[in-house]
Amino acid sequence: MSLGPVDPTTTGAWAQLSRLADGYDLDLRRHLADDPAWVPHQTLTAGDLHVDLSKNLWDDGVEAALLRLADEVDLGARRDAMFAGERINVTEDRAVLHTALRLPADASLTVDGQDVVADVHEVLDRAYAFAERVRSGEWTGVTGRRIETVVNIGIGGSDLGPVMAYEALEPYRQDGLTCRFISNIDPTDAGQKLAGLDPETTLFIVSSKTFGTLETLTNARLCKTWLLERLPPGSDPAAAVAQHFVAVSTALDKVADFGIDTDNAFGFWDWVGGRYSMDSAIGLSLVIAIGPDHFADLLAGFHAMDEHFRTAPAASNVPLKMGLLNVWYVNFLGAHTHAVLPYAQLLHRFPAYLQQLTMESNGKRVRWDGTAVGYDTGEVFWGEPGTNGQHAFYQLIHQGTRLVPADFIAFANPAYPLVDDVDGQGVDVHELLLANFFAQTQALAFGRTADEVRAQGVADNLVPARTFPGNRPTTSIMAPALTPGVLGQLVALYEHVTFVEGAVWGIDSFDQWGVELGKELAQQLRPAVAGDADVTAHQDPSTQSLIRYYQETRGR
Ligand code: F6P
Repeated sequence: MSLGPVDPTTTGAWAQLSRLADGYDLDLRRHLADDPAWVPHQTLTAGDLHVDLSKNLWDDGVEAALLRLADEVDLGARRDAMFAGERINVTEDRAVLHTALRLPADASLTVDGQDVVADVHEVLDRAYAFAERVRSGEWTGVTGRRIETVVNIGIGGSDLGPVMAYEALEPYRQDGLTCRFISNIDPTDAGQKLAGLDPETTLFIVSSKTFGTLETLTNARLCKTWLLERLPPGSDPAAAVAQHFVAVSTALDKVADFGIDTDNAFGFWDWVGGRYSMDSAIGLSLVIAIGPDHFADLLAGFHAMDEHFRTAPAASNVPLKMGLLNVWYVNFLGAHTHAVLPYAQLLHRFPAYLQQLTMESNGKRVRWDGTAVGYDTGEVFWGEPGTNGQHAFYQLIHQGTRLVPADFIAFANPAYPLVDDVDGQGVDVHELLLANFFAQTQALAFGRTADEVRAQGVADNLVPARTFPGNRPTTSIMAPALTPGVLGQLVALYEHVTFVEGAVWGIDSFDQWGVELGKELAQQLRPAVAGDADVTAHQDPSTQSLIRYYQETRGR
């Protein structure tokens, strides 16, 4: 690997892409009609994913220049360095090895003299055995009753992945066992999630990589108090905590300080970033909900995508091409955001999950050697399930002035195959959903011309408002069904898309220093918020005035 990041703007490919982008006016209607090879060329397979990149705003020339850019920034070497466990997280001096979390047990990878695959499977086996004890009822609460609710306490990467997957894999959950997730320091979150729970049948998992996160530790203390106050009189507090609290963390000493028996703690390693950790023991709540076999399928899905990214030739490498397309949109066509639109209600938390993955990773303004980037990085990812989004924000994507590249995700087989038979027609509702999925990317790509609008008999004065310009780029991702394996492939796909973008930009996609200042200031502000006038006086005038408003208004 080269010693420093390559400034991508110094490459020949960047100059070439700039020239291509100047006045780029590809017409997707013509492009697809004129080149019968284009759709097959841009229809790719990665694991179970069927990916159509043909409705993006690019052509052979742009594609070749993007692939050249990847070569010129040494992307392949950086990818190999990641998989090999080199310390590519430079600002934290860490390896980046979430891909080792899903290596099969018979693989081996030695980092700093340690076989990380053996470590991973040792923890996985313990997590699986623990999950089976909870699922079977062998593991009980302190009063001997079986566990009915698992509450995961965690935030960011220690929350978003488990919640997203718990929702996505709802059909795979065990009956009689529910999970709830407490993340926010807003006491409403704990208040609402604890409401109605029976302490005797509730198990808490405190999930925190650092075991130092204010939100998680505060919520864990609230839950501990809640439990001890509500268990039947006479319950031994230490035994109660031991039976009702387990932990997932890299900091097992802090777990012990909290009073959790480290026999009931599941570790992971500093080479797993928080936002890349849902397939580590951080997924314990999910393992309990869906069971070890399904969790193993999820890991196999992740691994299949890792292998695809690591070995597929550039021209058919889906994460590589999706990541490069995003660079094209951000740096050459001026896109600021990227929509992710799952036509699958079960993926309703997927965009939120991707927000941390992509934006905490690539929201950076300096390269990994500290030099300032002179180009945009890190687009804003956002989205909602279709068709709900169609009735909310799609108007802007269809007819607004901004370029919003969008990924559409759908499955051939539904989780709930319902039929609308009220009129005796037997309408397959999933087909209505899919018709919308296909229609939207078609409308976005090909639009409706003024002539076509006029031909529908629309009055001249209304023609402009009813014209769709088209040429709005989309990627369509399909799979047979939303299984654990497919979910693993989808998540790994976006992990690697994020990696590709970060590698081109020369940034460290694995640190997150930008979240620290706010945490520090919140700690400093606590006395002022609590009413210490001296401290309040040291704040800036705007913050002073806001705190004063709070102090005058609270309790009213
Ligand atoms: O503050 C950001 C962050 O560090 C995320 O990167 C991380 O996922 C989250 O906080 C939670 O951290 P932890 O798992 O250490 O509690």
